[in-house]
Amino acid sequence: MTNYNLFATFEHSDFVEKRSPLLVSFRELVPEISNTNYLTHGIYYYPAKFIPQVVRFCVQKFTQKNDWIIDPFAGSGTVALEANLLERNCIAIDLNYLLNHIIPLKIPKIQEKLKYSVLQEKLNFVLQSKEIFKPQWSNLAYWYPIEMLNLLQKYWGGQKSLPQDMYAEIIAAALLKVSKYFSYAEHKTPKLFRSKQKRAFIEKILQENWQKQMQEMLLNIASEILVAINETFAKIRQNKHQILYFGGVDSASFQTSQEIDCLITSPPYLQAQEYIRTFKLDLYWLGYSEAEVKHISQMEIPYRKAHSLVHTPTLDLLRPKITNPKLLQILEAYFFFTCKALENCIAKLKKGRKACIFVGNPKIDGIEVETWRIFLEYFEEKNCILKGIYEDRIQSRQLFKARNNKNPEGMKSEFLLVLEKQ
Ligand SMILES: C[S@@+](CC[C@H](N)C(=O)[O-])C[C@H]1O[C@@H](n2cnc3c(N)ncnc32)[C@H](O)[C@@H]1O
Repeated sequence: MTNYNLFATFEHSDFVEKRSPLLVSFRELVPEISNTNYLTHGIYYYPAKFIPQVVRFCVQKFTQKNDWIIDPFAGSGTVALEANLLERNCIAIDLNYLLNHIIPLKIPKIQEKLKYSVLQEKLNFVLQSKEIFKPQWSNLAYWYPIEMLNLLQKYWGGQKSLPQDMYAEIIAAALLKVSKYFSYAEHKTPKLFRSKQKRAFIEKILQENWQKQMQEMLLNIASEILVAINETFAKIRQNKHQILYFGGVDSASFQTSQEIDCLITSPPYLQAQEYIRTFKLDLYWLGYSEAEVKHISQMEIPYRKAHSLVHTPTLDLLRPKITNPKLLQILEAYFFFTCKALENCIAKLKKGRKACIFVGNPKIDGIEVETWRIFLEYFEEKNCILKGIYEDRIQSRQLFKARNNKNPEGMKSEFLLVLEKQ
């Protein structure tokens, strides 16, 4: 049995002095969260999502009520929800436009509980609608049999004819899941790809009453989302804290005038990328154009060209060992843009306050990259000091499987690096 340091306090000075991680279990350190999908945390599926326990640990340890927290890689908004539940303000930024659809549902700023009867009425309208919505994606037909595509286009047509309120957003969120399930795209894994099994599955259900299955799935998911929203609303209804969110924004160039009390984030993984590709189907159904999707794809870390090289002792030792030029380019871009994004936020961090960065140690070209150590060395040169490094063994956090992966067992741990601004 693993001997976790359950009493790990922030003052684990031995570990800090030795610059070695302290083994903890965030699930056990934050026992009040027993289900990682509690409240609205589970309504959107998102790869490499934070477990809320890590976020809660940081919020409780390093912030106070009414503080401002920033997350430059907000993904599905885990930090934003935890911040709001604990009465902190939050700035959430992500390249993925989806953030703009997730936040209003996840942290419902409504006047009263949503009504099931109203949702039902709107769903009936969608099911009977004659409107058609055709996503602007030349490749769409590749993902669907024509019958299913036609029906989905009708449902989305109905959804888009509704007044665009919370109910319409709930129906969109449910339709996204339905649109992936009733497609050739594998719906059990994050990556967008067609598989033989999925094709066989779709061919099988085409022989059945799939229209009824599609309707039932839509109604069930929409109802579940409404329940989660109402539960969350009950917890946050008194709370007037702000959430400023910026989906579709590159955090390497994001600037804010707001002074920040804490940074809590999990940057993308070195080789576990392609978030935008993963969400293509969703983005087109939501109405984004090919040009808009291309625009954000080009800014995705680490698929850009670094403007210059990041130098730290660990990275400088690693660099010559990477023999594959493509992988080297990914490595350089990763550290250049991720450091830039973190630096933009740390520039606004008040003195004495903390930056909490949650990362793995992935392998690239078969070589392990001590990501947290590289960030530590980089920010030590920029007025930050080490305050903690915690290692958490991964239990379940669905990551991407990289192609040509020389690390078949995947990562075993993730690390929470805590820096303090001087
Ligand atoms: C590990 S995920 C964050 C998941 C998040 N912590 C959660 O709980 O849902 C990393 C995120 O970085 C985003 N990302 C990648 N490149 C970016 C960039 N240039 N600017 C802002 N966000 C970016 C991806 O879209 C992805 O959502």
